[in-house]
Amino acid sequence: MTITFIGHGYVGLVTACVFADFGNQVYVIGHTPEKIQRLQKGDPLIYEPGLKELLEKNLKANRLHFTSEYQEAISNSNIVFIAVGTPPKPNGEADLSQVITVAEKITPYLKNKLTIISCKSTVPVGTNKKIEKVLMQKKPKNAKIAVASCPEFLREGTAINDTINADRVVIGSTSNEAIAMLSKLHEPVAGKRVITDLASAELIKYTANAMLANKISFANLISFYCEKTGADVENVLDAVGLDKRIGRIFMDPGVGYGGSCFPKDVKALINTGKHLQIDTSMLDAVEIINAQTRTNFLNKFYINVKGKNIAIWGLSFKPNTDDIRFAASIDIIKALLQKNYHITVFDPVAMNNIKKIFQEKITYSDSAYNAVKNADALLILTEWNEFKQIDLRKVKDLMKTPLIFDGRNMYKPTTMKDLGFVYHSTGRQSV
Ligand code: UDX
Repeated sequence: MTITFIGHGYVGLVTACVFADFGNQVYVIGHTPEKIQRLQKGDPLIYEPGLKELLEKNLKANRLHFTSEYQEAISNSNIVFIAVGTPPKPNGEADLSQVITVAEKITPYLKNKLTIISCKSTVPVGTNKKIEKVLMQKKPKNAKIAVASCPEFLREGTAINDTINADRVVIGSTSNEAIAMLSKLHEPVAGKRVITDLASAELIKYTANAMLANKISFANLISFYCEKTGADVENVLDAVGLDKRIGRIFMDPGVGYGGSCFPKDVKALINTGKHLQIDTSMLDAVEIINAQTRTNFLNKFYINVKGKNIAIWGLSFKPNTDDIRFAASIDIIKALLQKNYHITVFDPVAMNNIKKIFQEKITYSDSAYNAVKNADALLILTEWNEFKQIDLRKVKDLMKTPLIFDGRNMYKPTTMKDLGFVYHSTGRQSV
């Protein structure tokens, strides 16, 4: 098949590379010429494990074509995926301007052979109907189109594997031809098929993300109880998670969720709920608790830290990505800068992105060890693999004061006590 992706972010680029790798001809449209040139040369623009290799392989095989022109791509494609951003507006509503703009840009090049227009961007329920309206109003008279919603569930850091080995493939459409064509395209993808209507497909994506964010906030809420009562959150959640109806996965407490999806999608679902006059208190609480994870972490820090030289390990919103959108590190660095702390940071891949925000206001270190030299305290905000078995004796020798605030519960309190650290983690007693 010949397909087009409009947008080359984490969803657009990863999915384009995977479908090219399955043997399809894939166009990717972007609007910044400099970025298109870099993509054409095999630079994925983002850090995602395995992506550069997949991109280079499929460019070489002439199956991937990056362009800023719509005409060739759209007129040759059986399926056009919209995969542009839907960032939150100040009131939390998803900003659909990019989605609607690209829908308008597609229209002049639609032909009288059927083209499926499918939205991969996360959009509020009802948006695909709006896209359909724009297309129907502006398309050439004889052009044939069908609209479908095909949400994406990939996680950054494991995006390629998630795309190939999906838990489910959701296709929402009223057009049998669209369902047949999208089902055919997804044949090599693992996972159950869910064929449904447009509104359900749109809501499935928000429900999944809100449910996952809910699990995290619930675990964090219980961690607050544990800290006040002497209970150990890991023991509590391990035991509760043994109930098959609950499960232990995705209930790790700490400095809360960040990233490009949960914060934005919970907000957008709240906003949709308000429009529909639904009481969104439960979703409001998910957001409130997530913000409290960061203030709770900072309060422990303020009470216990005497010196001003602070080291931070981990800046990305989770490991294996350079993405810092809504990362805990941003909130925590901002709060510490307001109180005039000297901050030295280290992250294996996200340093350049954090530099764009804080520039010379903080110090950037080339290794985890160098970051902790003479530090009065170390804050751990992302659970990168390289911190898991780091030489903690060496870390202790390098620090001025052996004091750690672990926002991801990476180490056992007993081990840290034996090593001579003062160690604060989440939902467990400090040692
Ligand atoms: C998420 C969804 O998982 C994915 O299905 C969807 O398509 C996009 O949004 P992503 O944002 O890449 O993916 O990361 P994810 O692994 O879900 O983690 C999100 C945030 O939650 C991270 O900040 C992570 O640190 C945090 N998290 C995750 C916790 O705090 N505790 C957990 O138990 C799990």
